[in-house]
Amino acid sequence: MRDDWKRYSDANRAAWNEAAAVHKKTRPVDLHRFFTTPGATLLDPAETAILESFGLAGKRIAQLSCNNGRELISAVNIGALAGAGFDISDEFIREARELAEIAHAGCEFVRADIIDIPETYNSSYDIVYITVGALAWIPDLDIYFGVASRLLKPGGNLFIYEHHPVTYLLPFKDKDYQPGGLVLKPEYSYFNKTIIEGQGLDYFGNTGYDASKNYEFQHTMGGIINSVIRAGIEIRELNEYPHDIAGFGWAESLGMFPLSYSLIGRKK
Ligand SMILES: C[S@@+](CC[C@H](N)C(=O)[O-])C[C@H]1O[C@@H](n2cnc3c(N)ncnc32)[C@H](O)[C@@H]1O
Repeated sequence: MRDDWKRYSDANRAAWNEAAAVHKKTRPVDLHRFFTTPGATLLDPAETAILESFGLAGKRIAQLSCNNGRELISAVNIGALAGAGFDISDEFIREARELAEIAHAGCEFVRADIIDIPETYNSSYDIVYITVGALAWIPDLDIYFGVASRLLKPGGNLFIYEHHPVTYLLPFKDKDYQPGGLVLKPEYSYFNKTIIEGQGLDYFGNTGYDASKNYEFQHTMGGIINSVIRAGIEIRELNEYPHDIAGFGWAESLGMFPLSYSLIGRKK
């Protein structure tokens, strides 16, 4: 499995590195400016409330697949003691370090494939945090949550805030949806196991650019939950929400679909 994982993650590393410069141009917020404001946070009310429910003061938080660190820096800005972010992309980790410096946030950013995070980080964190768009790049969730589990201190919390697997059935635009008649043409089967090949990762501006191939993996809710359990993490809460965190605004306005969810676990 490790060889398969590496084949895909090496390709995805290149794809995410290419995307970094594009995102800088097309994302709606100038993050270098945004984080000059003390206490600045980009977290939405639902995830803020959950993080605060852990009692952030004095807590060390690790984020897996942290991208440019904006969510982890926000979590430290709202009260966590310190953060460590891990991501495979050299370019996004470079940006994360710049943003942490601007924000004066106590965050360390480590460029690493999740499967390779050194054992020296084991049992170091009170919270392991995984956010929107992280799980889709992971070929094997048993391995991923196994790493999450080894990074947690005993009794520490896992917090996942992700787009709901049902969103794989939905088009990004509402062109194929007809209220009443429900002419919904699913993008993929809920149970799709084929690897989703893509090219280009500009989900901010939807611009095309000369991009290498990337590889995504679809996971069902049951698959996610079972991998968390197998990693020795007790599930405390699972909440599904009608609000959108991944580009399905048209579906949010209908209020009919589970578009996002939060999962809170505790390491035994
Ligand atoms: C869509 S982002 C999700 C993170 C964050 N929530 C965000 O919205 O920016 C996906 C991130 O996963 C990282 N990634 C993909 N495969 C990885 C792996 N095997 N190990 C570490 N990071 C990985 C990518 O580099 C990218 O920054």
